Amino acid sequence: MFREHIIRRGQWYIRRLWSWFLNATMQSYWEEIDNCKIKVFDKLTAKAEMVLEIGIGTGSNMSYYADCNLNVTLYGLDPNPKMKKYLRKSAAKAGLKPKNFKFKQGVGEAIPFKDASVDAVVATLVLCSVSDVTQTLAEIKRVLRPGGTFIFLEHVAAEDGSFFRRLQKLLDPLQQRLADGCHLTRNTRECIMEAGFNGGVEIETMSMCSFPWITRPHIYGVAYK
Ligand SMILES: C[S@@+](CC[C@H](N)C(=O)[O-])C[C@H]1O[C@@H](n2cnc3c(N)ncnc32)[C@H](O)[C@@H]1O
Repeated sequence: MFREHIIRRGQWYIRRLWSWFLNATMQSYWEEIDNCKIKVFDKLTAKAEMVLEIGIGTGSNMSYYADCNLNVTLYGLDPNPKMKKYLRKSAAKAGLKPKNFKFKQGVGEAIPFKDASVDAVVATLVLCSVSDVTQTLAEIKRVLRPGGTFIFLEHVAAEDGSFFRRLQKLLDPLQQRLADGCHLTRNTRECIMEAGFNGGVEIETMSMCSFPWITRPHIYGVAYK
């Protein structure tokens, strides 16, 4: 009886400690991500009227669109149809009019849009999860109009031979299972550089200080078709 009581108390403390740890540490992760997002969304000029976000999730970027240009028409693409109800709420909270936001179910590898039909494509924390990064980048290029903008923020593989790279390789299969197909060891920077964005590519690297350290570093930037 006493032993069970001690185990239950122990579990209670561990759960509280873990939730406190996640809250405290993930908070600073999101703050660091937020700083990068502010910089990349700054590249989304008011001229971009038709924007497509791939892997839009629950709409964590909505407020950045609202800050840029309230007249933007935003198409959100995600394979998960359950995101729709959260997206509607996020759009309303960010002040986007319902007519200015449309959800489409689909994947980055086969974007259901015509060639050269959008001014800008946005992808944040998505290229780690698609099944084919090269194909997704080719699709992004296809749907962008000439001179169109691709803005991105992604976590990528750590430097070859580093301790973190070895750890990422070890944990990659587990990460894919736990985090909906997310890969830790993608060379996304190289893929973007080789995707043929002839208008130029600007990429910054950020080694996040916050937990979860396993997803460091991150890259963010802009590529022009
Ligand atoms: C980590 S979440 C990122 C969500 C959001 N972009 C953000 O920054 O908060 C990854 C998203 O990518 C979506 N996803 C997974 N595979 C995809 C694919 N092949 N094409 C497009 N989106 C995909 C998932 O459904 C999920 O919403």
